[in-house]
Amino acid sequence: MIIAIDGPAGAGKSTVAKLVAKSLGYLYLDTGAMYRALTFKVLEEGIDIADTKKITDLASKSIISFINNPDGQIKILLDGIDVSLDIRQSRITKLVSDVAKIKGVRQVMLKLQRELGIKGKVVLDGRDIGTVVFPDAEKKFYIDAGLKERVKRRYKELKGLGQNVTVDAVEDDLSNRDKIDSNREFAPLKKADDAIYVDTTDMTIEEVVSKILDSL
Ligand code: DC
Repeated sequence: MIIAIDGPAGAGKSTVAKLVAKSLGYLYLDTGAMYRALTFKVLEEGIDIADTKKITDLASKSIISFINNPDGQIKILLDGIDVSLDIRQSRITKLVSDVAKIKGVRQVMLKLQRELGIKGKVVLDGRDIGTVVFPDAEKKFYIDAGLKERVKRRYKELKGLGQNVTVDAVEDDLSNRDKIDSNREFAPLKKADDAIYVDTTDMTIEEVVSKILDSL
C-alpha cells in the first residue's frame, strides 16, 4: 500500500507520517527533505536562485537517498553525505519553495520519488503526493491546521533543534511558503479530491496517528 500525506508547512505531516510508517513497518519518505537537500547544494555551489537551468542540471546530477534505520531514525544523504541537520537551517527554509517551483527540478524529483515509492509499503509526505506523484495511492490524507497553531508547533520544533528563531519569523516563513507552494504553476499544494481531510488544530499527534491508522 502507498499512503500519501499532503498539507501545508508545519501541520505536523512528517511527525505523523513517521509514526504511521513505524507502526506499520513501512518505509517513510520525506519528499520535502529532497527539495531541501537540493537547495542546500544550490547554496553550497553558489548558484543564483534565479538560474533555473543550472539548478535543474544540478538536480539531475545529484544523488539523493535515504537511510531508514530500524530504530526509527531517518537520514537523508546528498551525494553520499548525511545532510539531515544542514537542511533544517533557516537559510535553506527561506529558499526551498523557490527551488521547488522549478519545473525541471520537479520532473527530476518526481521520477526519483516514484522509483523510491513504487514498491509500496511506504508513507510519503509532501505537497503533491496524492495529486501528482502517486495519484493512484490507496490512501490519501490532507493534514491541515490553523496558521497560529502551525507557527506554534514549528517554533517549538526549531527551538528544540537549538535554532535562534522568533515567532514572527516563523509565521512569515510559513505564510510565505504556503503562498508560493499553493500558487506555483507545476504541482501546487492542493487537497486531492479523494484525500481524507484532517484538521489537526485541536488534535494531539497521537490522535492524528490513530485517526489515520483507523482509516486504513
Ligand atoms: O515539508 P517541508 O517543509 O520540509 O518542505 C520543504 C519545501 O519543499 C516546501 O515548502 C515545498 C517543497 N515541497 C514540494 O514542493 N513538494 C513536495 N512534495 C514536498 C515539499
